[in-house]
Amino acid sequence: MVQGNKRPDNMERITTPALAQAFIEEQITALREQIGDNKVLLALSGGVDSSVTAALLIKAVGKQLVCVHVNHGLLRKGEPEQVVKVFREELGANLIYVDAVDRFLDKLAGVDDPETKRKIIGKEFIDVFAEEAAKLEGIKFLGQGTIYPDILESEQGVKAHHNVGGLPPELNFELVEPVKLLYKDEVRVVGKALGLPDNMVFRQPFPGPGLGVRCVGAITRDRLEALREADAIVREEIGKLPETPWQYFCIVPEFKSTGIKYTDGKGERFMGWMVVIRAVNTTDAVIATVPEIPFKTLCTIRERVIDTVPGVNRVLWDISEKPVATIEWE
Ligand code: XMP
Repeated sequence: MVQGNKRPDNMERITTPALAQAFIEEQITALREQIGDNKVLLALSGGVDSSVTAALLIKAVGKQLVCVHVNHGLLRKGEPEQVVKVFREELGANLIYVDAVDRFLDKLAGVDDPETKRKIIGKEFIDVFAEEAAKLEGIKFLGQGTIYPDILESEQGVKAHHNVGGLPPELNFELVEPVKLLYKDEVRVVGKALGLPDNMVFRQPFPGPGLGVRCVGAITRDRLEALREADAIVREEIGKLPETPWQYFCIVPEFKSTGIKYTDGKGERFMGWMVVIRAVNTTDAVIATVPEIPFKTLCTIRERVIDTVPGVNRVLWDISEKPVATIEWE
């Protein structure tokens, strides 16, 4: 078993199902040795790193793993349901589902400063997770989906090394990080070998604060719902292209513009939101270019969004590159 936080120079890159299987077998043995008959707690967001970590731990220690999925109301359409379906129903995980939607949205009501929004979401997440942890007995370990780039970036001082916004030290757990020496592409190969669904394994990057940073300005429930619906349409339609961009989603800012709604042939002024399509290509998220999206796809998105998403009267396409525009709007 590989120890420490340094990936050995001779460690073979996991690129095939056979190599993934060998890694899985090795980790099952190592995890059983480390954990014994103790319990492990894991914050399961549904992202690829935490999902692969959870699936590995379930294989190794079964019900000794307690997964906590916090639904903060800022997840994409269908995500919380899929976490429950895959982990509780299909993999038989010991999963605690926390519906914290009202709690997060109440705290965020009226807050329009992006950094304050991020801080509220991060702090609330820690509080909810710590409260759940306090209800449990006999937890010795904390599972984390740390991957090798997290370790490298933390050593270089780019970002703090944590996965869930930093858990309070008083929780006092020992860490279990079975994929910490793997690169993202390897985590995906392992995830596939563990039988996780493709839309989980090949999930696009998604900010921790979720749709919160795309519901630009002070979040309201109706605009957040419009964003979630429009995002599902944008991802579905752009996802049909033969070559999909690295990341694609949409934004719904607070701003409203004038539109017309016809009822029984009579036009009436309708102040509506705009859905802004954002699609970028990048390798490191530091520099991003904007790929061409066929006009036909843009029109299909426009038609579906305008027909089905309440409150929206315009669809725009953001063609700004990074720099100078960041990928996310907040
Ligand atoms: P920006 O907007 O800085 O985004 O150009 C670069 C990449 O990082 C993602 N992103 C985040 N990821 N927490 C995260 O885990 C965040 O707060 C956050 N903000 C941006 C973004 O989606 C893009 O892939």
